[in-house]
Amino acid sequence: MTIHARVVRFHEIGGPDVLKIEEVRLDPLGPGEVRVRIDAIGLNRAEALFRAGTYYYQPTLPGSRLGVEAAGTVEEVGREVAGFAPGDAVSVISDQEMSHHGLYADRVHVPAQSLLPRPATVDAITGAALWTTYLTAYGALVEVGRVNPGDGVVITAASSGVGLAAIQLVNHLGAVPIAVTRTDAKSARLLRAGAAHVLAANQGDLAGRVHAITGGQGARVVFDAVGGPALSDLAQTVAADGLLIVYGWLDPRPAPLPMNWPITVHGFNVDLITSDPARMTRARAFIEAGLRAGTLKPVIDRTFELANIVEAHRHLESNAQTGKIVVTVQH
Ligand SMILES: NC(=O)c1ccc[n+]([C@@H]2O[C@H](COP(=O)([O-])OP(=O)(O)OC[C@H]3O[C@@H](n4cnc5c(N)ncnc54)[C@H](OP(=O)(O)O)[C@@H]3O)[C@@H](O)[C@H]2O)c1
Repeated sequence: MTIHARVVRFHEIGGPDVLKIEEVRLDPLGPGEVRVRIDAIGLNRAEALFRAGTYYYQPTLPGSRLGVEAAGTVEEVGREVAGFAPGDAVSVISDQEMSHHGLYADRVHVPAQSLLPRPATVDAITGAALWTTYLTAYGALVEVGRVNPGDGVVITAASSGVGLAAIQLVNHLGAVPIAVTRTDAKSARLLRAGAAHVLAANQGDLAGRVHAITGGQGARVVFDAVGGPALSDLAQTVAADGLLIVYGWLDPRPAPLPMNWPITVHGFNVDLITSDPARMTRARAFIEAGLRAGTLKPVIDRTFELANIVEAHRHLESNAQTGKIVVTVQH
């Protein structure tokens, strides 16, 4: 039987308008592969960068796909697949390159290793919104940062998907989340989301304000998605012998090396977790326990239908969001 999928592809780099929904024929399932009917797709900033040609690797054109996380239901399993069967509810997280394996589609073939079981209590929208954000926050703050109860933790781009996951995770650990956001427009929302303190970056003297909050010491861990020229000022918020974890470059301009030593600067990538089975097992146990306890709960900013993918990407780039943008798929 021939199976077709609706897939989001782009044939040139550019703005959201380059995204097209096209019908493609799926190849037969290979060994170790699973066909998933996608019900929801979690959007990440990295995908807007990839579409625009400013990510750390370039799309293969024409016909590049997009996307790394989704949720849905298993439709068919290939040979040599164990542990999943048709009808299983799953989340999908892909570490494959996006041009050929992107998940913006209504049906995908993925390696079984990309699947995580989705409990009945986790609907598709939640299941598509949680893994990239919490794995990133967990990996940086628990595995690398070893955040302890009482630690002050500065979180920039606090209203981003990862930023909100980090606020919840820092609270879960009994530490103190200090949210940094560009202006005070989202301050009330960030306090409601669990930030102990919210600092608007455009009000200046970030280091002075963080030192005042932390009893003059500075933050033991700073978790930064922004980079750019402000990195050296941000580094001044780090306590002596503390840790500056940089995991994104929302500001694409060059970032100076911080000179307030001794601090450690760590360039974090979530692959550190997803490529290591032992770390991944620990991460899953931590995140699933937090979801059950209700201390970790994905914040969904807004949903769009797949047909409105261009609009969804415009919203992704607007920086007006607080939390995750999810695309739902009608079948
Ligand atoms: N290394 C990894 O493994 C990894 C994993 C996941 C994500 N990331 C990276 O983490 C970053 C966040 O990803 P996401 O998907 O969570 O983002 P997102 O939800 O799209 O984040 C949007 C928010 O980022 C802030 N922001 C945007 N542009 C900014 C700028 N030029 N300067 C300062 N703040 C800016 C704004 O927050 P405010 O309104 O609060 O200022 C905006 O609402 C991206 O750079 C992404 O590539 C890295």
